[in-house]
Amino acid sequence: MQLAAVVLAAGKGTRMKSTTVKVLHQVCGKAMVEHVLTAVQDAGVQKIVLVVGQQGEQVMELLGGMAEYTRQDEQLGTAHALMQARPVLEGFKGDVLVVCGDTPLLRPQTLSELCHRHRTSNNAATVLTAILDDPAGYGRVIRSTGGMVQKIVEQKDAAPDELAVQEINAGVYCFRGVGLFEALAALRTDNAQGEYYLTDIIGYYADRGEPVGAVAVNDPTEIAGVNDRCQLATAEKILRRRVLERVMLSGVTVLDPENTYIDSTVEIGMDTVIYPFTFVEGKSKIGENCIIGPSSRLLNTNLGSHVTVQNSVVMGSSVGDGCNIGPFAYVRPGCVLGREVKVGDFVELKKTFLGDGTKVPHLSYVGDSDVGKSVNIGAGTITCNYDGEKKSVTRIGDGAFIGSNTNLVAPLEVGAGAFTGAGSTITRDVPPGALGVARDKQKNIADWSARKKRP
Ligand code: UD1
Ligand code: CA
Repeated sequence: MQLAAVVLAAGKGTRMKSTTVKVLHQVCGKAMVEHVLTAVQDAGVQKIVLVVGQQGEQVMELLGGMAEYTRQDEQLGTAHALMQARPVLEGFKGDVLVVCGDTPLLRPQTLSELCHRHRTSNNAATVLTAILDDPAGYGRVIRSTGGMVQKIVEQKDAAPDELAVQEINAGVYCFRGVGLFEALAALRTDNAQGEYYLTDIIGYYADRGEPVGAVAVNDPTEIAGVNDRCQLATAEKILRRRVLERVMLSGVTVLDPENTYIDSTVEIGMDTVIYPFTFVEGKSKIGENCIIGPSSRLLNTNLGSHVTVQNSVVMGSSVGDGCNIGPFAYVRPGCVLGREVKVGDFVELKKTFLGDGTKVPHLSYVGDSDVGKSVNIGAGTITCNYDGEKKSVTRIGDGAFIGSNTNLVAPLEVGAGAFTGAGSTITRDVPPGALGVARDKQKNIADWSARKKRP
């Protein structure tokens, strides 16, 4: 039996109070809808149709070829949204899995289990449900005294005895493709919200004696829907815990999982230790035997193995094996550090290459620079890379020694093995092996303090 999926993602998400469309809000570093799509793909569905609405271009740009797209111009309800997939699924004879774009925690196994149960029971419709202690906000699953699913009532339409029902609709369904769009066309908007509810299709089939089933999830946290920012935080917390468990079970020590934030997109090698208050975000990759944190942030950054990062921020950069960063370093995008590089306390780097074994131990700004191997950059060194109009490059050759408190006024080249005198403002190239000094000669005034004290 063929299986297609429709992901509903056209809703405005009014309750988010945001200018960003709801399904693009991120959970653990990935848009909600992307989590949903990945789960649907991993459940083995090949044909995926995504229903988009306003700001649909942004959704399509993010997801590209992961799905086919159809548009719902007016948000008239979830049944109406599914109806928009009709032209794409015309003549499709298989089963249709329907998932909402705002349930980012669904696991692929749950989706394939639902479809499997649907197929083996030969149902017209099978709905995924959960038993919740607090069912508030969700549609309730109403069963007959015999236990057969009769209908789903939305919270806003529910009678008091229906509100007490704890079995809720997860918003995930498997439908028999044949006859699906005809059934949808028969639904009406005579409800509290004046919308075409997809949930009404359950009652529609049940009333006609068609087989309708329900499959309850084992783990009710999986179906958490995100409608507002509080639910977004709940989803984030659940997924964060899941990501941390994956990371820990793969051999990473996380000292305090309650205070460690790792995006679902991150990979971390064995025997790395993560200290509290650390954020590892985006497409970051960490090698083996690293020590990260406390209080560090890595964003879209690649670390080799045996790297330490302490109380520092590293963004959009690549760091070789054995590097030592921080405490209190700020590595901005576009940096490439070789092996065994030291970037110490209160150092800022931007768009800079540092060769193997180079050290920038303290209090420096190095930007737009190309620095060779085994260079020592003394405390307080500043590359003056910006003249108010354009940025210029500083080049420093292998083995050079930059004296403390040097200003390197770019564009500038300091040759291999060259030195600069402490406190110099270097404006001209320093040839290889030379010493560049640019500062006033010192004079000493004898007996100065004694003379100063005289009345
Ligand atoms: C829906 C279900 C509810 C269920 C809950 C599970 C209906 C009527 N209710 O309620 O029973 O418990 O999900 O999370 O289906 N969408 C569109 N076009 C629209 C309206 C919605 O594409 O016109 C999309 C939204 O982008 C969203 C999804 O459908 O991804 C669900 O819509 P939402 O408004 O969040 O429904 P709920 O009120 O949560
Ligand atoms: Ca919802």
